[in-house]
Amino acid sequence: MEVRKIGVVGAGQMGSGIAQVAAQAGFEVVLVDVAESFLERGLKAIQRSLGKFVEKGRIAPQDLEATLGRIRTTVVLGDLAEADLIVEAIVEDEGEKRRLFERLGSLVKPEAILASNTSSIPITALARYSGRPERFIGMHFFNPVPLMQLVEVIRGELTSEETRDVVVEVARRMGKTPLEVQDYPGFVSNRLLMPMINEAIEALREGVATKEAIDGVMRLGMNHPMGPLELADLIGLDTCLAIMEVLHRGFGDDKYRPSPLLRRMVQAGLLGRKTGRGFYTYDEKGNKVG
Ligand code: NAI
Repeated sequence: MEVRKIGVVGAGQMGSGIAQVAAQAGFEVVLVDVAESFLERGLKAIQRSLGKFVEKGRIAPQDLEATLGRIRTTVVLGDLAEADLIVEAIVEDEGEKRRLFERLGSLVKPEAILASNTSSIPITALARYSGRPERFIGMHFFNPVPLMQLVEVIRGELTSEETRDVVVEVARRMGKTPLEVQDYPGFVSNRLLMPMINEAIEALREGVATKEAIDGVMRLGMNHPMGPLELADLIGLDTCLAIMEVLHRGFGDDKYRPSPLLRRMVQAGLLGRKTGRGFYTYDEKGNKVG
């Protein structure tokens, strides 16, 4: 099966990045969200990111135009009917994803592959909602998508080898390195990363150190490019909480209990960079200001 047209559902931080790398790799892209304003915001993010690539001489100005020319935006899910591969990147909520995959399963063409960028929700469950479990797979990109090398590829219980092979090839064409992992809560990435972030939030709550010191310890002592609290702000605190809840439910162990401070910040709408305030504050371009 040859993939030419890729649909991306959700034009947030991840979906816009996935649309961008797909278009840069030469695929035709249809980007879907629930409102025009989200699509506009997504397209702006893509333009900004491509603009930086041009500034750094990594792509030519005409590549920017050609890439944007391959991305079509729409609020109509039915516009994905002709896509060969659809990557879902909507909110990390199983109910929302279920509703979407039930609809997608019946409107896309029979041979199309459905992929989810979920951070932690079981692929096998999402595959079942889609009604095409053999053509369903996890395709987990990392933030910011245009810069991060990895795609975690997660096969559900019934995912076919052909589906895996197609998606691995697409990831490679996007310039990424696919690594295959099994369908367990949080896969590998978030099973390891999220408990560390959660523990950093607990350390902050207990007053072990300031946020700057906690992040500094991990940057300067462990050579992490970002501290865990800065990274939580980048990921989105709502997404972090949703992932911790999946780990907690999936493994049942107290060590995965979400920090009460994380929960309180999500309740307050302090979701990190995307809302301008989380552990740190950000200007409208996403630069840290405090
Ligand atoms: P986001 O909040 O930036 O974007 C979500 C977008 O989905 C919004 O634009 C929203 O309007 C749209 N949306 C919601 N319901 C929809 C529907 N039914 N149909 C169409 N569009 C809909 O979220 P973000 O950070 O992009 O995360 C998206 C997914 O990617 C989640 O599953 C998350 O766990 C996963 N992910 C997130 C990473 C991160 O660092 N933020 C990293 C890897 C995966």
